[in-house]
Amino acid sequence: MIASFYDRRAGYYDAVVHLLSLGMDFRYRKIAVERLRIHSGDLVLDLGCGTGLDLPLLSRKVGANGKVVGLDLSIKMLHRARQRVCSGKYSNIRLFQGDALEIPLRDESVEAVFCNYLLSTVSAVKVIEEVFRVAKPGASMVFADDRLPSGWFASPLRALGELLKNGYFNSSLPGVELLRRRLSDLSLTNHHGGSIFILSGTFQP
Ligand SMILES: C[S@@+](CC[C@H](N)C(=O)[O-])C[C@H]1O[C@@H](n2cnc3c(N)ncnc32)[C@H](O)[C@@H]1O
Repeated sequence: MIASFYDRRAGYYDAVVHLLSLGMDFRYRKIAVERLRIHSGDLVLDLGCGTGLDLPLLSRKVGANGKVVGLDLSIKMLHRARQRVCSGKYSNIRLFQGDALEIPLRDESVEAVFCNYLLSTVSAVKVIEEVFRVAKPGASMVFADDRLPSGWFASPLRALGELLKNGYFNSSLPGVELLRRRLSDLSLTNHHGGSIFILSGTFQP
């Protein structure tokens, strides 16, 4: 169901994101990628990579010796990501269709995990537990998302109603307590008028 939701929106996803962020999403994407600590040769997982808006930044950050693996459930979002990767000739990126709840990677196989706008879409705790399974001890992790009422992207009017009823921000950040327990050097910052959070840290199994 979630895959077909994003399949239907893949063609205009980028335009909607840029429009709703007033063209500012590039700014906090850059900040989020900068917060990853990556070394030459590392494998970075971009979980829920979507149309690949973060892939060029990740590709440059990990360098020629490293590798970026983008994983997404939606074939059509991945198709857009593939077009981006081909046109930019990013040879260190591989894309796969798969479920973040059952990541098709071995235990302790990645040095860094990047997860942008996925936690508010899925069962955050289950995804984070799966991330902990595939991450190597000491892996660098960045989770970013919006703090708007859940489901706002699917039905903005209902979200607006919730917003008026409950106040502006989603007070509970998805899965954040679990991340607090397992990440050292945890940093949690707010961006774009407080509507976006970026959480980063180092995985301690
Ligand atoms: C809001 S978009 C974010 C895309 C991208 N990370 C970005 O920053 O623009 C959420 C993405 O997560 C994907 N997704 C949702 N549930 C998923 C799951 N269980 N496993 C993998 N991808 C999933 C959707 O297909 C969609 O591409």
